[in-house]
Amino acid sequence: MCGIIGYIGKRQAYPILIKGLQRLEYRGYDSAGIALLDNDLLNVYKAKGKVSDLVRFAEQQDVNGTIGIAHTRWATHGEPNQINAHPHCSQSEELAIIHNGIIENYAVLKESLIKHGYTFQSQTDTEVLVQLIDYVKKSNNVDLTKAVQLALNQVVGAYAIAVIEKGNPDVIVAARKGSPLVVGIGDGEFFLASDATPIVEYTNKVVYIGDEEIVTLKRGEDIKIKTIADVVKTPEIQRLELTLSQLEKGGYPHFMLKEIFEQPKTLSDSMRGRLNLEEKEIKLSGFIDNKEKFLNAKRIIITACGTSWHAGLIGKYAIEEFCRIPVEVEYSSEFRYRKPVIHGDDLVIAISQSGETADTLAAVELAKSHGAFIFGICNVVGSSIPRNTNSGCYTHAGPEIGVASTKAFTAQVTVLTMLALLIGKEKGTLSVERYKEIVSELGNIPQKMRSLLDQNDMIAQFAKTFTYAQNFIYLGRGYNYPVALEGALKLKEISYIHAEGYPAAEMKHGPIALISQEMPVVVIAPSAGMYEKVVSNIQEIKARKGRIISIVTEGDTVVTNLSDYYISIPDTEECLVPLLAAIPLQLMAYHIAVVKGCNVDQPRNLAKSVTVE
Ligand code: F6R
Repeated sequence: MCGIIGYIGKRQAYPILIKGLQRLEYRGYDSAGIALLDNDLLNVYKAKGKVSDLVRFAEQQDVNGTIGIAHTRWATHGEPNQINAHPHCSQSEELAIIHNGIIENYAVLKESLIKHGYTFQSQTDTEVLVQLIDYVKKSNNVDLTKAVQLALNQVVGAYAIAVIEKGNPDVIVAARKGSPLVVGIGDGEFFLASDATPIVEYTNKVVYIGDEEIVTLKRGEDIKIKTIADVVKTPEIQRLELTLSQLEKGGYPHFMLKEIFEQPKTLSDSMRGRLNLEEKEIKLSGFIDNKEKFLNAKRIIITACGTSWHAGLIGKYAIEEFCRIPVEVEYSSEFRYRKPVIHGDDLVIAISQSGETADTLAAVELAKSHGAFIFGICNVVGSSIPRNTNSGCYTHAGPEIGVASTKAFTAQVTVLTMLALLIGKEKGTLSVERYKEIVSELGNIPQKMRSLLDQNDMIAQFAKTFTYAQNFIYLGRGYNYPVALEGALKLKEISYIHAEGYPAAEMKHGPIALISQEMPVVVIAPSAGMYEKVVSNIQEIKARKGRIISIVTEGDTVVTNLSDYYISIPDTEECLVPLLAAIPLQLMAYHIAVVKGCNVDQPRNLAKSVTVE
């Protein structure tokens, strides 16, 4: 996690860096810092807390300079405090560094630097790296780029770094391995950042820095890139497809609410050019180019984390139903380490909103090393996972800034559903008639979502009733079991209320012991799929005085009678219910968190992009 940003050019760096940090704050927000070069001065300011805390402090200081670097942190090594905040300086106070990632061999490097007379102020791995660069620079008498290169050759781990040097106000040197880094090219100026969001308002020309590449940004010169193995690379300048309005709240009080309301549009964007409603056909270029891999796959492994893992579980239900291919859904963090059996003819689908999740990236590498074909379903264009897969499909949900994933989830489910339908039709395991029926209904989902969002005020009202709760249970069956997991995750991450999702029938094997009149139980009970069974599960809870909040199909009378509160969703195909049922659960979690006064967009201890293990 952590967000890094740098600027070198004709303008004052401070306002650009602070604005950039605010855009990157979703990546980490426990401390922040900035380093500016002003002629011979290297000014470093840091603060515990948010970027706004840094601003309050820095405003009183000298913030001059047309070159600088800045950082917003999500702590890995050392508690979040001012000393451990970035930038870190070398003991000589000549170098300042910002870093996103983890230096795994920092302890060994630190020990050797201590032997060379270096002392350390912080508990961070990053301070070790800047001291190492300082040591290498002095002992080899080389320039900053060479020193960074030689130092990184000794480093094991992941990093995106940027370094500046006192007395050398014309250069920023940056590098990456495993953590994202993008350079924006302006008119006589350069921007660098963890993602393009802080860059978009200044330029749409960007270069995505590759793994193990070092970039030198020098005033008056072109961008220069070489690898840590000293191979010169030609920068590939790309055009940024991102608009400023996508990064703003657009009148909503929180990004999360804006993103929940964007879903009818993001779903249409996910389907645009892929779903042909006139012909009732789906076209996915990532599928067409590799059709045989999909049709011949003996097994599909889906790997992901968190919300993306929940989307993967829905994908499993759809692929197994329509394609009759066995699917395993793996937490990337387990998969990468547990010596899984992977065959050369396995098809691996990696799902990630950010495209940067370290565990999913490692799972992809592992599967690749066994010869499996890797298909990525990612949201952030140009991010690491799509760059490391054989093929894929972007979700096109647009930038998701609220830390709790909402629109990315429904877009992932949409892409997985299209993929499952397409494979099923091509394999002949799904009849053309059913295929066309479901394709046609998929096209109706954005409109159905829109009508569902009209219930926002009602959901906000009843959410107030439940702020007392310490625990929640979410239940669903079939396609809605992953939705229950996702609903519970949304609630716990933003409201800090403990919540668990279960397959509804699993209740009686233990969790039913928790039911009392205090316990809110959210049940997803649409008419499509195992309705009577879910009704029985609800009766079991009711008999123990649990408070039922149900998600039902419009017109339902049975479940609504058993419920304390209910939210109706439009009728749809069973496999498409998750796309609708997810919305009231997102809204409910949002409103409960708001009433509790929680920071919805930046919940405690979390960060949007988990680029560490
Ligand atoms: C939950 C959430 C996380 C992410 C997880 C994977 O709201 O956002 O659980 O889903 O960290 O992130 P990506 O999808 O970027 O790989």
